[in-house]
Amino acid sequence: MSLDAYIAGLPKAELHLHIEGSLEPELMFELARRNGVTIPYDSVEAVRAAYDFSNLQDFLDIYYAGAAVLLHRKDFEDLAFAYFQRAAADNVRHAEIFFDPQTHTERGVAMATVIEGLLDGMRRAESELGVSSKLILCFLRHLDEDAAFATLKAAEPWLDKLAGVGLDSSEVGHPPSKFQRVFNAAGALGLKRVAHAGEEGPPAYVAEALDLLHIDRLDHGNRSLEDAGLVARLKASQMTLTVCPLSNLKLCVVDDLKGHPVPEMLRQGLHVTLNSDDPAYFGGYVNDNYRRLAEAVGLTRDQVTTIARNSFEGSFLTAAEKTVHIAEIAAYSARSA
Ligand code: ADE
Ligand code: ZN
Repeated sequence: MSLDAYIAGLPKAELHLHIEGSLEPELMFELARRNGVTIPYDSVEAVRAAYDFSNLQDFLDIYYAGAAVLLHRKDFEDLAFAYFQRAAADNVRHAEIFFDPQTHTERGVAMATVIEGLLDGMRRAESELGVSSKLILCFLRHLDEDAAFATLKAAEPWLDKLAGVGLDSSEVGHPPSKFQRVFNAAGALGLKRVAHAGEEGPPAYVAEALDLLHIDRLDHGNRSLEDAGLVARLKASQMTLTVCPLSNLKLCVVDDLKGHPVPEMLRQGLHVTLNSDDPAYFGGYVNDNYRRLAEAVGLTRDQVTTIARNSFEGSFLTAAEKTVHIAEIAAYSARSA
């Protein structure tokens, strides 16, 4: 069996996926028509042609504009279910998905509309596709901490439906320290904590995410490799890193996949997972990330298997649930030997 075929059949979890970033141009057009929203493109091809980014901010400007077509509960359900169909086709068994409520509430869309719609899609994914999922509410770091507190408060009726909180959007100039109090409040409510750090920002931001936000998982973390002491801490604490190779390529975090840091992360004993981030914008879902990276840097079948195992170990599933998935990987691996 080729490595590509092995990757395709491997059971995996996806831990870094912005649901708004899974909005394919076709669905964007359909929702624009359905909701009478004008978008600044006249064809699906024109949308795709606009996806040429030189950094994170370039992408974010287009990503937030695209989300304007999402208005009703059913839109959020359709968005989520479309992602889960793609995920299921990639043998994703479990996904922990980010959503950016402030992108919607700032446009006058109610928190209830966003969360109930996503939960509808998640329930359908479980029953129709056999994919389980959890929801992570992200704070937009270019906004202030008071806005994050207001968002947390607005989401309180759904506290038992949320696995955790995250931190995303423009990294440089918006360090984790800006959100220390709201992350403490989220922790006190029993929520897990994750944060984007070290994507464009310096290793010091990763250290702040550990020390001040008390994160349970690190999103991206690429630039951690610039600080040997930080790498030692990440290794000792068995911190899971949710790495996104095709995102890194599209946002010019790396010049070439051949120079991607994953092999060095693995060599240093870090718990790497592979994820698609915003697949509709970056040209590939999770299996594309595994395949393209494996091809570029020469990952072995064992390394790919370790990464898939890490994806369940680093998830917020229970120990018993993790055991079931990891046993499935072992059985698949033995069968494919
Ligand atoms: N929002 C969506 N994708 C993101 C990324 N890769 N980094 C920061 N914020 C994001
Ligand atoms: Zn991300």
